[in-house]
Amino acid sequence: MKILVTGGTGYIGSHTVVELQQEGFEVIIIDNLSNSQAEIADQIARITGIKPVLEIIDLTDKEKTSAFFKKHNDLSGIIHFAAYKAVGESVEQPLKYYTNNLCSLLNVLEGMKENGIENFVFSSSCTVYGQPDVLPVSENAPVKPAESPYGNTKQVSEEILTDTVNVSKLKAIALRYFNPIGAHESAEIGELPQGVPNNLVPYITQTAKGIRDYLRVWGNDYDTPDGTAIRDYIHVVDLAKAHVVAVKRMIEDKMKSNFEVFNLGTGTGYSVLDVIRAFEKTAGIKLNYRIMDRRPGDIVKVWADPAFSNKELGWKAEQGLEEMMASAWKWEQAYREKFKD
Ligand code: UFG
Repeated sequence: MKILVTGGTGYIGSHTVVELQQEGFEVIIIDNLSNSQAEIADQIARITGIKPVLEIIDLTDKEKTSAFFKKHNDLSGIIHFAAYKAVGESVEQPLKYYTNNLCSLLNVLEGMKENGIENFVFSSSCTVYGQPDVLPVSENAPVKPAESPYGNTKQVSEEILTDTVNVSKLKAIALRYFNPIGAHESAEIGELPQGVPNNLVPYITQTAKGIRDYLRVWGNDYDTPDGTAIRDYIHVVDLAKAHVVAVKRMIEDKMKSNFEVFNLGTGTGYSVLDVIRAFEKTAGIKLNYRIMDRRPGDIVKVWADPAFSNKELGWKAEQGLEEMMASAWKWEQAYREKFKD
């Protein structure tokens, strides 16, 4: 069975391609390489022994997208990762985010409709919950006004899917990710932030590697046990596996409705200082960090109630925080060794 993975050379996409191939799926990747490299396809092959087909297409190009679907009208499903994802940049450049994230979704959905392709898995985010009133946050928690254009593209995309499944044969599953971190155990693939990382874990590993002077901890005066903000960090490989489960659920006709939503988290919240300590323990390194003012727009605390995903998908995140940090550190070292920048 053939699965299209858009954004398949990106961070979560590449890990998902590996899991799909290891489950026997044939994978085609579409990526415009705006935040990844074509060589990732070779790195995937080093893990699985199979180099996925990579089509370099910008999905906002309607004609090229449509031509792709005409050529590949035998797809069993699509996992749609391709999107911009930097929260801060989306505030600076909202049109860039709306155009890219929404036009690409619309073009893919049109291509599916024209060619009778029905199964669609969408990369959503826990950002749709904003700062939830009740913790842990379940799928029934209200969607809060988006904090950023990026977050809004996720909300609007879910609405587009809701409206479309009502009037077509489309079946869609939106997976709301909490905070994916870590890397494949082979250290062949991992997170490759361009320039200065925004996210916590790449910043930690780059600091430990000496690329950054010190980690800035954004605030320690929040209403949390140690004053730093709390997130639900999930290993990217656990997250990737959930996509395979979602695809199979659709193909095997196990969906309870034509649009389903699942939280992908572990159910455990960790503070920024917890993450630093876990890193220091697994890497055996003292991390240089400083407490700074709060980062504007940060959520204080959010973690998932994964009960519904665990039960309905028969999936559970398995790896703990120290395993996540160990794999992130292994990847950072292997990557720097390979590319020596
Ligand atoms: N943090 C630091 N220092 C840093 C980076 C992060 O202290 O250098 C802190 C943040 O303040 C936050 C925590 O570490 O408390 C996690 O921050 P990340 O930037 O790694 O992740 P966010 O939770 O802010 O954002 C992530 C994704 C977004 C998504 C959001 C949904 O990056 O794409 O989760 O909640 F929208």
